[in-house]
Amino acid sequence: MTKRGIRVLDTTLRDGEQTPGVALAPEQKLEIARALDEFGVDVIEAGAAITSEGERRAMKLIADAGLRAEICSFTRALPVDIDAALACGVDSVHLVVPVSDIHIQHKLRKTREQVKEMALGAVRYALDHGLVVELSAEDATRADPAFMKELFLAGLKEGAQRLCVCDTVGVATPERMRELFMDLVKDIKAQIAVHCHDDFGMATTNTVAAVQAGAQEIHVTVNGLGERAGNAALEEVVLALMHLYGFQTNIKLEKMYGVSRLVERHTGMPVPLTKAIVGENAFSHEAGIHTHGVLAYPPTYEPISPEVVGHHRRLIFGKHVGTHAIESELKRIGLEPTKGQVQEIFEQIKRLGDRGKQVTDTEWRAIVDAVMGRTLEEIVKLDELTVISGSRVTPTASVRLKFGEKKVTESGLGVGPVDAAMNAIRKVVEGMSNIRLQEYHVDAISGGTDALVDVVVKLTDGKRIVTARGTSGDIIMASVQAMLNGVNRLLWDRKLGGA
Ligand code: KIV
Ligand code: ZN
Repeated sequence: MTKRGIRVLDTTLRDGEQTPGVALAPEQKLEIARALDEFGVDVIEAGAAITSEGERRAMKLIADAGLRAEICSFTRALPVDIDAALACGVDSVHLVVPVSDIHIQHKLRKTREQVKEMALGAVRYALDHGLVVELSAEDATRADPAFMKELFLAGLKEGAQRLCVCDTVGVATPERMRELFMDLVKDIKAQIAVHCHDDFGMATTNTVAAVQAGAQEIHVTVNGLGERAGNAALEEVVLALMHLYGFQTNIKLEKMYGVSRLVERHTGMPVPLTKAIVGENAFSHEAGIHTHGVLAYPPTYEPISPEVVGHHRRLIFGKHVGTHAIESELKRIGLEPTKGQVQEIFEQIKRLGDRGKQVTDTEWRAIVDAVMGRTLEEIVKLDELTVISGSRVTPTASVRLKFGEKKVTESGLGVGPVDAAMNAIRKVVEGMSNIRLQEYHVDAISGGTDALVDVVVKLTDGKRIVTARGTSGDIIMASVQAMLNGVNRLLWDRKLGGA
C-alpha cells in the first residue's frame, strides 16, 4: 500500500559539514547543492549563515542558483543570525531553540520563560522579514515534553509554519519517538519534522518510527555525515521508508550512489565499505553459495537490485569464491576455460586467501592469465621517478611514464614523499586516461625499519573498479607499483573490449 508523501530536508551542507575534519569551499557546496536539487530533496539546509564570510558566499551562490528546492539557513534565536541568513537570500530559516533543562541551564544560563521569549521574538523577526520559519526544538528527547509543546504552540500562534523535534544526542528509542510524535500530532496540525543523530546507531530506526507516528519531514545527511556519530543517513532512511514501509518521497533513487560519491569526494570522508545501500560492498558477493545464487537469480541475495540506487553488482574472487562464479566470470569476459583450469584457478585463489591476504582484482586476473596462458601487456611503464623530501622542502616528485612509445612527464607536490609521488603519477594517468585513485591502504608486513610494505589501491575508470597491490621494502615503490598494476589492468581490459 502506498502511504503519504514525506518531505526530505537535507542537512549535509550544515550538520554534515559539522563532521569533525570536514570543511567545504563555496564552489564545492554549490556543486553538492545542485546535485541534491536534481536528486529531488525538498529543502537544502545550505549552512549557518552566521558562520563565516565563505559560508555566506556559498549560501548566496546556492540561493541564486535558481534551484527548485527550498534553500534554508540554520539560525539561533538571535536577530544577528537571521540578518546573516537574510543577506544570503535564503527562503527559510531552521530556527533552533534549546528546550531541555540541561541546555537551558548549562549552555544558555537562562530560564524556560526567557528561552520562550527569545524564541518567539526571533520567529516574529524572521517572519516580518519574509522568511519561512521551521521552529526547531534542540535536545527535545531529553526535554520536558510539556514545555516543548507549549513552545511549539506559542511559535505556531506567532506564525511559524513548521516545527522540528531534534534527538540531538541520539538517545531516543523507536518507542519513545512514537510516543512523542503521537502526543504532538494529537494537538498540533502543522507539519512536524524529525532530526536524529546516530550516537547509539538508532538514527534510521528512530526517524522511521517518528514518520510512522506522524512526522511529515525528515532531516537527513548524505552518507550519514554529521556531528559525532553522524545524522540519520538519507540513503538508509529514504530506502527504508519507500521500500520497506511504502511511503513516498520526491527522491530520484537512481541518483543515490552518484550523490554519495560526490559527497565522499568533496568532504574527504570515506564511505565505509559495508555501509547500507551506498557502501562499495553493498552489492558485492564473494562466498561461493552467494555468487552461485546471485548468478542464477539476483534476488536470492539482493534485497533490491543495485541499479535501483545507481549502484553496481560486483563478484569478488577471494578466499570464499566458488567454481561456479569463476567459470561464469571467465565466460562473461569471453574465455572458455576447461574444468581443470577452473579447478586450478580455484585452488590458487584459496591458497592466497589462506595466507590471510586480500586477493586483489589484479591478482585474481594474474592467476587467470597464468593458468590460461595469457600475458598481460604492460601498457604503462615507469621510466623514471625522482622524489625530494626533507625538513626544509615541500615534498616534490617528478615522474616519467611510458605509454607505449610515448613518454609523459609530470611533477607533484604532497604532504609527504609518497603523496607527492602518487600525485605526480595521478596527473599523468588522469591526463592520459580517465582513471582515478579511489582508495589507498598501506600495511607493514614485517616489523623494523626495513619492513616489507604492502600497498593496496582501488582505481576506477568510471565503469569498472579494480584493486591492485604493490609490495616492496620501499613504500614509494610499493605505492607506484600498486598504482601501475591497477592502471595496466584497467587499460588492458579496455583494450580487450570490456573484459
Ligand atoms: O542535532 C541538533 O539538535 C541540531 C540542531 C542544532 C538543529 O543539529
Ligand atoms: Zn543535528
